[in-house]
Amino acid sequence: MASTSVETSLRPARSSALPRAARIQLGSSLLWMLAGLAIGLGMAASGDFALRSVHAHVQLLGWVTLCLTGLTYAVLPRAAEGALARWHVVLHNLGLPVMVAALAAYHSGVPAAEPFIALGSVAAFAGLLAFALAVRRVL
Ligand code: HEM
Ligand code: HEM
Repeated sequence: MASTSVETSLRPARSSALPRAARIQLGSSLLWMLAGLAIGLGMAASGDFALRSVHAHVQLLGWVTLCLTGLTYAVLPRAAEGALARWHVVLHNLGLPVMVAALAAYHSGVPAAEPFIALGSVAAFAGLLAFALAVRRVL
């Protein structure tokens, strides 16, 4: 049908040529961007800034860093091949939610969450170390 072909031609092609690591990082970064904006709006509306560092890291280690690493894998697809990139994607995407959930609990009066902030932080750091090595290898 004519309408179907118009719809099809208007729909942008999926970026299947992107490395898998790039698509995961970019897709994940969009979710963190929306979560970070929602926390920011919540803080602004309530005037309670207790979750400032949660908002900051959701935005910066989530939205900004996930997006930058995704764009890096898109520009340097050879960096996205192999175990280092796989470790990065897994550790970054698992460490970040542990880190920010524990940070939120800690700033909401649960001091027992502190070791989990450390656990998530070290995982995210190890992931970004793997990213740095993966990129350095192909420069
Ligand atoms: C709807 C959009 C946003 C709102 C309503 C918002 C709101 C806020 C609020 C209320 C604070 C606390 C300010 C204070 O403690 O004095 C804050 C801090 C912060 N925001 Fe946002 N924010 C938004 C978007 C962003 C974005 C897009 C980023 C980064 C990509 C960002 C990064 C930060 C950082 C790093 C801090 C901590 C600054 C510091 O420690 O001095 N925010 N934001
Ligand atoms: C493993 C990764 C990271 C760890 C463990 C970490 C840890 C920390 C800690 C402990 C603080 C003080 C928080 C507080 O006062 O409650 C802090 C603040 C901050 N960090 Fe990070 N950080 C990480 C990654 C990043 C990245 C990638 C960025 C930027 C791209 C960033 C930007 C900031 C900013 C702007 C602040 C001040 C925000 C605030 O008001 O709390 N951090 N970070």
